[in-house]
Amino acid sequence: MIFAANFKMNHTRASTQQYLNSLQKGLDSRDMQDDEVFVFPPSTALCSWNGSITIGAQNAYYQINGAYTGEIGLEQLQEFDIDTILIGHSERRSILGESQEFVSKKFQWFKEHNFRIIYCIGEPLELREKGDEAVAQFLWEQFNGIDINYDRLIVAYEPVWAIGTGLSAKSEQIANTHRELRKKISSPILYGGSVKPENVKEILSIENVDGVLVGSASLKADSFLEMIDKAK
Ligand code: PGA
Repeated sequence: MIFAANFKMNHTRASTQQYLNSLQKGLDSRDMQDDEVFVFPPSTALCSWNGSITIGAQNAYYQINGAYTGEIGLEQLQEFDIDTILIGHSERRSILGESQEFVSKKFQWFKEHNFRIIYCIGEPLELREKGDEAVAQFLWEQFNGIDINYDRLIVAYEPVWAIGTGLSAKSEQIANTHRELRKKISSPILYGGSVKPENVKEILSIENVDGVLVGSASLKADSFLEMIDKAK
């Protein structure tokens, strides 16, 4: 099972260190042999980590270094041995204006550098209201320019209307969407969008759901550990 914590623009360098220490302590006292745990802190809190937690970048630019004001690149990630990145998150697509073309360039570049890529897709509410077929078509378009056979790919299905709203997708919607994705995708498929201790067990019991990508409910190490316990 994969458990991924996306801090978004939360936590400082100091609080991330405290978090990682408590989370690692919690993980070390549990049987996590078949599980993987990722934490995506903000870029100012990226660090090397000596333990079972994999630290990943929420974002980076597709260059080694250079004149890209405000961005970080490969050089800044390599300083901390980071080779995991989130690409295509809906907040970057909609708030930061990342187009499919831009997202796919980033994917291609980080793939060439052998990164573990958690690639996010998800439909807005208007599409969900049109039904499963419209959703499926929209989601497959979000794979334009993406190598779905990349062996270090993890897909995260995160319906935009379920992110940060407290309202996760219904089990049937998750099941149908993951079944559709499974037709072509053999890599792990995570669900994200208002996953919390109260619903994590049900979500992870759905067929073709290989893990969760969690925002709000991951911000406290205790709550994240509670989710891991509930899931197992
Ligand atoms: P949420 O965010 O758990 O707060 O809904 C999930 C995400 O955007 O990755």
